[in-house]
Amino acid sequence: MKAVITAVGGFVPTSILNNKTISETVETTEEWIEKRTGIKERRIAVGKSTSDLACGAIENLMSNFEVEPSEIEALILATATPDHILAPTASKICELSGLTNAFGFDMNGACSGFLYALEMGATMIESGRYKKIIIAGADKMSSIVDYEDRNTCILFGDGAGAVLLERTETEYGLMKSILRTDGSGTASLVVPAGGSKFPASMQSIIHKKHFIKQDGSFVFKRAVEAMSSVSRDVLISNGLDSDEIDWVVPHQANLRIIKAVSENLNIDNEKVKVNIERYGNTTSATIPLCLWDYAADFEEGQNLLITTFGAGFSWGATCLKWGVMRERKSQKTTKTANKRRVLVPQLS
Ligand code: UT7
Repeated sequence: MKAVITAVGGFVPTSILNNKTISETVETTEEWIEKRTGIKERRIAVGKSTSDLACGAIENLMSNFEVEPSEIEALILATATPDHILAPTASKICELSGLTNAFGFDMNGACSGFLYALEMGATMIESGRYKKIIIAGADKMSSIVDYEDRNTCILFGDGAGAVLLERTETEYGLMKSILRTDGSGTASLVVPAGGSKFPASMQSIIHKKHFIKQDGSFVFKRAVEAMSSVSRDVLISNGLDSDEIDWVVPHQANLRIIKAVSENLNIDNEKVKVNIERYGNTTSATIPLCLWDYAADFEEGQNLLITTFGAGFSWGATCLKWGVMRERKSQKTTKTANKRRVLVPQLS
């Protein structure tokens, strides 16, 4: 018994923050950002929270595929930017998306959250106790980004993606995964305050400790090493050679990281799915957004390699054989990504 993805959905807000606008607010240039990261623009959720983004992705999944909300038994939400520290954002999503027969919980694995959640959902299905689980990845990174810090504000964006995982006895579906963590990396990519270690205070606000901080070049090097080696290991554990991989769906943090990893794995760039130029790094959402964006290219029986790296440090890789999707409701998709509105950020 295996778990297979049978439907995908995605949602990005309409407001766009492009490199030009960023270059007018911090010391950088449009060219520098594009050359060093591959990012041209990112989406910003104005007046929406993470639950709204995730509900948008689930609604998109349900409006495109024959899936009833009442069929779903569980929702795992990967997010690093929950609506509240307490209560779970997944509870709100279950309510708003009409998942009346599902229980839901949040999982914070930072940029690896979606992959961790996918593995968790797959093992729940393989246990025989569950048949239909939605795995969503959603982040409103703009809620923790300091738009006066050029180390981070150039990178992140808001968005959400969701997949339906179902039981199958076919050859399709998720194969073995390898997931890793290394807590010694915590300080290199962190929101220092607002949690139990340094609760929110006047001081934490004054010193901007509620915003994301990172040692970019250190994280960059660790990401390339970790994603390359864990991908090699997961290929070996699944008995696959790199030339048997049809598509790579990597976490979208920096185009140079993606290119270095595919070079290390000896996989052609044409096989590597990239949408970072449009959305930036949406943390838990990058991988499901990429699956959603490129689902039309994936054919039944093709092998996908998914790999990620993020705060924690957290990282991992998995392989899957693309399966038969649920019947489509109509050929007309509701890709909200196509709607665009250029945004001028309000800096405090
Ligand atoms: O998803 C979670 C994981 N996160 C990541 O994987 C992020 C990984 N890190 C990165 O993407 C990159 O490290 C950054 C995009 C954040 C920075 O790029 P970099 O190539 O690593 O730059 P750097 O920090 O090594 O700095 C190189 C130069 C420095 O100038 P000097 O000392 O050579 O004169 C920086 O001051 O680039 C300068 N610099 C910038 N210049 C213009 C750094 N940031 C900027 C900027 N605009 N935004």
